[in-house]
Amino acid sequence: MTDFTGKVAVITGAGSGIGRALALDLARRGAKLALSDVDTEGLAETARQAEALGAEVRTDRLNVAEREAVLEYADTVAQHFGKVNLVFNNAGIAFTGDIEISEFKDIERVMDVDYWGVVNGTKAFLPHLIASGDGHVINTSSLFGLLSIPGQAAYNSAKFAVRGFTEALRMEMQIAKHPVKVTCVHPGGIKTAIARNGTVASGDAAALAQFFDRYLAHTSPEAAARRILKGVEGNRPRVLIGLDARFLDVFVRLVGSSYERIFAVVTGRVMPKAGR
Ligand SMILES: NC(=O)c1ccc[n+]([C@@H]2O[C@H](COP(=O)([O-])OP(=O)(O)OC[C@H]3O[C@@H](n4cnc5c(N)ncnc54)[C@H](O)[C@@H]3O)[C@@H](O)[C@H]2O)c1
Repeated sequence: MTDFTGKVAVITGAGSGIGRALALDLARRGAKLALSDVDTEGLAETARQAEALGAEVRTDRLNVAEREAVLEYADTVAQHFGKVNLVFNNAGIAFTGDIEISEFKDIERVMDVDYWGVVNGTKAFLPHLIASGDGHVINTSSLFGLLSIPGQAAYNSAKFAVRGFTEALRMEMQIAKHPVKVTCVHPGGIKTAIARNGTVASGDAAALAQFFDRYLAHTSPEAAARRILKGVEGNRPRVLIGLDARFLDVFVRLVGSSYERIFAVVTGRVMPKAGR
């Protein structure tokens, strides 16, 4: 079991949603926080709430896709707090678009933030986590890192890649006997701004976001954060969040690639015609 008191926790994408909920939960449990985001207003609000809970907080504007900046940030944070124990590579963006009509740049943007952002954060902080003698990397994949759906190829690619990267990292830390635990997080639909901030290749982005908010997002960010921290405490390799993630994980393992036929029919019928 991990006691978070006095631990230094780095959270990317802390200006909203799951990142903010993680920051506030960790603040309540006595952690020191290095919070970053590209959204400086959201970040300042998270910091205000975390400080009101008594936490020591450092905030930085950081784009996780900018490798040099992330490398410099990691050294600065380690110097500032004297150590780093927990790194939540949480920042992420959504994009919906069939491959046929998606621009290369849209697919690359999702990979840059959702995949390379995780790689940048992991590699930049790894030496500091090892040096701490008590480190934990928590990388956020998705339910869509366990199965694909039409229109989500870019997001699916990034989140499957995060899962592969994170699972290999966990084994490597074990083999090297480094004092770094590794957890991969797979949220189902969480009630955050992700769909509203998302972009689409074509069609009605607002209708898609409304559909997500109304029918797909069931879990609160606060409940998601609690589940992630429980997984961290229990050193879980994989944390599934929400009934949807838990059910579909088992379903896909049971039916194998037949899930694709079922999903093609279901999503073709019920999803708004955005991104197609
Ligand atoms: N909400 C869901 O249903 C859901 C499901 C599965 C996975 N996830 C993942 O959870 C993570 C958190 O998402 P959320 O739902 O809280 O969304 P959110 O939009 O509420 O929060 C994401 C935060 O990341 C920040 N961000 C975006 N691009 C960034 C960049 N380049 N550098 C730094 N920060 C950046 C945003 O400004 C925002 O504050 C993401 O990785 C997302 O893919 C969310």
